[in-house]
Amino acid sequence: MSITDLAARSLIRSQAWRSVSSSAPSKYAQASKDQSSAPPAGKEPLMKTFKIYRWNPDEPSKKPYLQSYSVDLNQCGPMILDAIIKIKNEMDPTLTFRRSCREGICGSCAMNIDGQNTLACLCRIDRAGGKETKLYPLPHMYIVKDLVPDMTQFYKQYKSIEPWLQADPPADGKEHRQSIDDRAKLDGMYECILCACCSTSCPSYWWNQDRYLGPASLMAAYRWMADSRDKAGFARKEKMQNELSMYRCHTIFNCSRTCPKGLNPGKAIAQMKYEMATES
Ligand code: SF4
Ligand code: FES
Repeated sequence: MSITDLAARSLIRSQAWRSVSSSAPSKYAQASKDQSSAPPAGKEPLMKTFKIYRWNPDEPSKKPYLQSYSVDLNQCGPMILDAIIKIKNEMDPTLTFRRSCREGICGSCAMNIDGQNTLACLCRIDRAGGKETKLYPLPHMYIVKDLVPDMTQFYKQYKSIEPWLQADPPADGKEHRQSIDDRAKLDGMYECILCACCSTSCPSYWWNQDRYLGPASLMAAYRWMADSRDKAGFARKEKMQNELSMYRCHTIFNCSRTCPKGLNPGKAIAQMKYEMATES
């Protein structure tokens, strides 16, 4: 298909979308409203209690507490994110949480669900009768409000490892080439979505968050050390040569157990330690 064909198709799609969103909002909104209020035919309500951490910075004298919400699972999508969106839309608009993609790509819905750090949009609701589910923000983080942690320090740490390609421009002025085998060395690391589930499951990170980089930033650092095109490996490793930045990792693998994307930051850190110990 030519570029012109692609452009034409894209234009038709965008016009079609514009016409849907501009000409029929009331129709779609009404259909959605009808669906949410009508019980699915033949299904009895299946009520489940969600206990959700609440804290409001505008009420500093009020301690954090768990608030209970009862949701009919037969009128709700299958994931935890579906439940909290339903609670926010239909019961309590003050409930605050982050979400965007609803498919495990943006990392913004990370939270602690029944004791496990994970993504609310990838976590299925446990439908076992009578079982409550408790939702907390990611542990050991400052809280902005309710389920929203302050990610400032986490992003600062990620920035500190300089997560970009550092190399002189290629001699031919075109592109940095990489063999298929070298490219494969980045698999299992480049997929990280920076949700912070791993770092906030790590006791070393809980106690030394000011100086220990934590599994997510360390795996990102190794992702660039392992990149055959990057020429800053020595400087990257030099920055890790201190007591806390990396060596606070005691390889307990909480990070790898909790990663909702199935990545293995513990292994990447172990590999980085090994290379730093064996390379002269
Ligand atoms: S390694 Fe996994 S848990 Fe850690 S930030 Fe990346 S995606 Fe999230
Ligand atoms: S909403 Fe994007 S990862 Fe859950």
